[in-house]
Amino acid sequence: MSVNQNNSDDDLDITLRPKTLSDFIGQKHFVENLKVYINAAKQRNEPLDHILLSGPPGLGKTTLSNIVSREMGVDFKSTSAPVLTKVGDLAAVLTDIKKGDVFFIDEIHRLNKSVEEVLYSAMEDYTLDIIIGQGVAAKTLKIDIEPFTLVGATTRSGLLSSPLLARFGINEKLEFYNKEEIITILKRSASILKFGITDKAAHIVAASSRGTPRIANRLLRRVRDFAQMKGVKEIDEEIAKDSLKRLKIDHLGLNKNDIKLLEIVIDHYDGGPVGCKTIAISLGEEVDTIEDVYEPYLIQIGFIKRTPRGRVVTQKGYEHIGRVYTGGNDNEISLFTS
Ligand SMILES: Nc1ncnc2c1ncn2[C@@H]1O[C@H](COP(=O)(O)OP(=O)(O)O)[C@@H](O)[C@H]1O
Ligand SMILES: [Mg+2]
Repeated sequence: MSVNQNNSDDDLDITLRPKTLSDFIGQKHFVENLKVYINAAKQRNEPLDHILLSGPPGLGKTTLSNIVSREMGVDFKSTSAPVLTKVGDLAAVLTDIKKGDVFFIDEIHRLNKSVEEVLYSAMEDYTLDIIIGQGVAAKTLKIDIEPFTLVGATTRSGLLSSPLLARFGINEKLEFYNKEEIITILKRSASILKFGITDKAAHIVAASSRGTPRIANRLLRRVRDFAQMKGVKEIDEEIAKDSLKRLKIDHLGLNKNDIKLLEIVIDHYDGGPVGCKTIAISLGEEVDTIEDVYEPYLIQIGFIKRTPRGRVVTQKGYEHIGRVYTGGNDNEISLFTS
């Protein structure tokens, strides 16, 4: 992903991360349910059911996983699927886990197949079935592990195999945050960072945050830099507008790459349909970045649509970049996702 963050920004990210469910803004429906699941599991003195969190980057998947372990009063063990290359890596973590602990696997759609297969019995029966040796000499070793909670995070739940999906008792797709929620997040972050932001300025920054807390916090830090250099302690409307202009981010949160994506599809492919791979090549980006970062938001604001034959720019998308809508290509509304 092409997100520019230096170390001090990463540290700030941790500072700004909500630590409890009551601190966590938005995703109200899920948070309410999660409270019930957590309290019920605690009452029964059982580990929480396995949880799958999906959705675009920056919506709070890692944050929520941490919160779950804190609210359950258990330890948090964290890894990422691409790091779990061997069954032994998984066994090492799971044999070391204590009752009820949260084991977080980020990017779980990228699990190695043999690791994934061992995970099935671990999730279901809290046993590790490990095959030792090869051919006729192969033996299955059964190791009991403590009951635990697996929390998987993914930007692409569609890529998960059905046996893995079936083992998550709780499966939640995080949604983009509405403007009011982003404003609340911005104000909370500003107060943690100890500077002011006016209501109008918060509205402006929120509108450009793509419904994404991580982006909201990142913009806030940049806007703060501009305010600081002006020698003021409060971000006002003018500073907010001026900073976003300097960051080349428009009032809907689109940057030059989003605009370029729309231009490519409209100007080179007559508005689509065009395949994601083609768009990626033209933009010089990874297909994953297009699908995880650009598209979900452009679809959310109704600028592009997915059709069986590829992506299509809508009338709204044409108008946003000042093109005349020629119409016609986007009437195949479809639930098809690739
Ligand atoms: N609901 C929320 N309320 C406040 N801040 C949030 C919320 N969700 C996410 N954040 C902020 O956004 C950042 C990114 O969230 P993160 O959990 O890392 O997203 P993901 O794992 O989905 O990519 C966090 O560091 C946190 O500061
Ligand atoms: Mg994360």
